[in-house]
Amino acid sequence: MPVQQLRQDHANFSRVLDMLQREVGGYGQSLRDSDIDLIMQSIDYIRGYPQLFHHPLEDAAIDYLQAREVGVWEELERIRRQHTQLERETLRLSWLFQLVYSDHVVPMERIKECLQRYLDLQSKHMAREEAALFPLFENHIDDAGWRKILLGISRVSDPLFGHAEWDAQTNLRDKLGLPQVRRVD
Ligand SMILES: [Fe+2]
Ligand SMILES: [Fe+2]
Repeated sequence: MPVQQLRQDHANFSRVLDMLQREVGGYGQSLRDSDIDLIMQSIDYIRGYPQLFHHPLEDAAIDYLQAREVGVWEELERIRRQHTQLERETLRLSWLFQLVYSDHVVPMERIKECLQRYLDLQSKHMAREEAALFPLFENHIDDAGWRKILLGISRVSDPLFGHAEWDAQTNLRDKLGLPQVRRVD
């Protein structure tokens, strides 16, 4: 059932966000290379599966609800707009850390502030969906509806928590206590 998948995705994304939250709390006056590496691997992950599959699936299910006029139009539109905003913010965070990575001086306070703001945005968005969106999916979309919705989007698997054959993101995997995987050529 796709709603279970969406909920599982949120639990997985929260593991990444909570880990970053703990990391931000431990930063001193400058970032170590391993800190930057971990953040960039986390951003890479968020720019992948969540944006390529999780958001499109939610948006397609929102389209389905709106086509059937279940009401709460404004709330659904707000969640859809948050996807665009989150994707923009992820890109901005990525740019910021590209600068840090290429040795531009970025004040530590600014780095912490940007990361914290981003983590709050992501967490609030997921909490809102769990409270207001997923119950609508559960009440208004049956198996046939999900089959129709899934036909319209490309299937992408989660390279971190799913069954993927990636050997990238090794630091991130270590931090999250996930097994390392090797690419099978
Ligand atoms: Fe979402
Ligand atoms: Fe979501």
